[in-house]
Amino acid sequence: MSKKLFVLPGDGIGAEVMGPAVEVMQAAADLVGCKIEISEGLVGGVAIDATGEPLPAETLAQAQAADAVLLGGVGGPKWDDLPMHQRPEKGLLGLRQGLGLFANLRPALLFAPLADASSLKADLVSNLDILIIRELTGGIYFGEPRGIEQRENEKVGFNTLVYSEAEIDRIARVGFDLAQKRNRKLCSVDKANVLEVSQLWREVVNGVHKDYPDVELSHMYVDNAAMQLVRAPKQFDVIVTGNMFGDILSDVAAMLTGSLGMLPSASLASTGVGLYEPVHGTAPDIAGQDIANPLATILSVAMMYRYSLGEPGAAEAIEAAVAKVLAENYRTADIDDGQDRQRVGTGEMGQLVINRL
Ligand code: IPM
Ligand code: MG
Repeated sequence: MSKKLFVLPGDGIGAEVMGPAVEVMQAAADLVGCKIEISEGLVGGVAIDATGEPLPAETLAQAQAADAVLLGGVGGPKWDDLPMHQRPEKGLLGLRQGLGLFANLRPALLFAPLADASSLKADLVSNLDILIIRELTGGIYFGEPRGIEQRENEKVGFNTLVYSEAEIDRIARVGFDLAQKRNRKLCSVDKANVLEVSQLWREVVNGVHKDYPDVELSHMYVDNAAMQLVRAPKQFDVIVTGNMFGDILSDVAAMLTGSLGMLPSASLASTGVGLYEPVHGTAPDIAGQDIANPLATILSVAMMYRYSLGEPGAAEAIEAAVAKVLAENYRTADIDDGQDRQRVGTGEMGQLVINRL
């Protein structure tokens, strides 16, 4: 039986990096003899332009029926002035919610040849391999009440940060499970010195820890975690945190690896379809120039083979091909440190990876 893969290129460079990523997806399938069936849909700004909505019902239905979804990115200046509920980002948030994708895995792994592209000194990041697990369907992103309203003589904007025991419990378990498969160190990041939500978060995480006595658990406030990530990132193995802290810390972690253009992600539900996307956005400033780095999306395809398609061999082959291309000195603009590298564009980088598969 063939696997149904649903592709959502989206906006800006999201659409651009998708071409090479889909080719890599097909090449890896052929390599391991996995039958795949690829269909494409609309989300974000392009969906707004075509249908008036950032997440057409048809898109959500197709995503729900797929084995895995690969998404490029959503958003751009063209849609920035739309009301909140009609913005492209709502398409992505609606997909996460509609598919129950509560666990977002964002690995920050440094490919050795990129040590000099990092904004940190090479010895601080050499062999860096950390995994940020971000809760993705709760917290302040989805909490109610929310809005902007007139109160007395001024407008007030408000959002709600809320986590239930069950939501914390299930994301904590993902953290402990994955830590068990790595170096058995889990750091839970919160703001328990100020927020009640974080006090409950800590209590629940400590409770779940009883089921994982072989994992070393630590807690860290988010401000300190941001500082430690740029001071001594190798102290971390797995980090588990809430939606907004995870959004922010994963951008920091991405930069340690040389570029936001290198970081893939997987968003998983308790059962059913997984969604894979690069951590970077749509980069409107460089869209349409064939200079965007497709590797974050290509590495997201590797994660798709590992977590949704049960083909770890295909995942490893893709990752090895990416490592090889970097070792051979090929660089897109974002990871070019100026040390005599071979500068390539989006399409060419994809082709180089395919040739080495
Ligand atoms: C991310 C992005 C999204 C988020 C935006 C585009 C809604 O920044 O996936 O990190 O905030 O979750
Ligand atoms: Mg983000």
